[in-house]
Amino acid sequence: MPFPKTRLRRMRATETHRRMVRETTLSVDDLIYPIFTVHGRNIRHEINSMPGVFQLSIDQIIIEVKELQGIGIPAVILFGIPAHKDEKGTEAYSDHGIVQQAARAIKDSAPGLLVITDVCLCEYTSHGHCGVVKDGHVLNDPTLELLAKEAVSHVKAGADIVAPSDMMDGRVFAIRDALDREGFEQIPILSYAAKYASGLYGPFRDAAEAAPQFGDRKSYQMDPANSREAMREIALDIEEGADIVMVKPAIPYLDIIYRIKERWDIPVAAYNVSGEYAMVKAAGRFGWIDERRVMMETLTAIKRAGADLILTYFAKDAAKMLLEGR
Ligand code: PBG
Ligand code: ZN
Repeated sequence: MPFPKTRLRRMRATETHRRMVRETTLSVDDLIYPIFTVHGRNIRHEINSMPGVFQLSIDQIIIEVKELQGIGIPAVILFGIPAHKDEKGTEAYSDHGIVQQAARAIKDSAPGLLVITDVCLCEYTSHGHCGVVKDGHVLNDPTLELLAKEAVSHVKAGADIVAPSDMMDGRVFAIRDALDREGFEQIPILSYAAKYASGLYGPFRDAAEAAPQFGDRKSYQMDPANSREAMREIALDIEEGADIVMVKPAIPYLDIIYRIKERWDIPVAAYNVSGEYAMVKAAGRFGWIDERRVMMETLTAIKRAGADLILTYFAKDAAKMLLEGR
């Protein structure tokens, strides 16, 4: 029945009407908060390009995770800034590495909070690439062994979930195999499965001090123009044993999230990355947009597209708004 009998505005009349027919509800259960950890004590170093996000020493992380638990956030993802970088990213798989220490400390002080660790080499290598470099090339197969070692070392330190972000072929299988051989068959893998070579990682590279020292990451991260290739990445990671697959960045790639959700029943995560955060923060600071409103709209849109989980620097702010019932 067309207009004038049908009027879609009827169910938009008041907030109560709207609340009753709302199709997507963001929940604190969906949110994962990224944390950057550094060696030292009493360090709370704010990232220039990411207002409200800090490099934290472990004593500060302990304070932070209690706050996160208090507002109901279920999980954090840890990134480490090592004391020393070298060609092979040794601190990534050292049992005394910064992420390993932070994971232990979090599990001691907030045992119910899940610790996810980012498994990659770029934060730890002197050249800043996500894999082993030889003659200017990022080598795939020699990297797998190091990533597997890193994942095992994270789990030994208390990590509940490991999240490989390197984009080497075959890493999910290599990590699954290594974890199983060590008796960690219960530890899930959250795979950065469709990770694009994006300009939106700029602020993260300031935060993690992990910009590539030569070239770019286009020989291993995906071309932003491709979506069928993303389906192949997802299919392979599921076959290799991924428990959750991730799309990254989120907002420019909502079509990818949607396509995955249509085709597979596996949980889907989306990474609302540093550049997406910085753009909203900057425009908000200029007074050009309403930051909180755009934040909630963005997170709701990511969920509407099909994401079950959202990794976001907005997690704390969004959780507080949800608690206040706004
Ligand atoms: C490491 C990694 C990156 C991000 C997460 N893990 C950077 C990169 O691949 O260059 C980006 C996260 C963000 O921008 O918020 N491989
Ligand atoms: Zn990396």
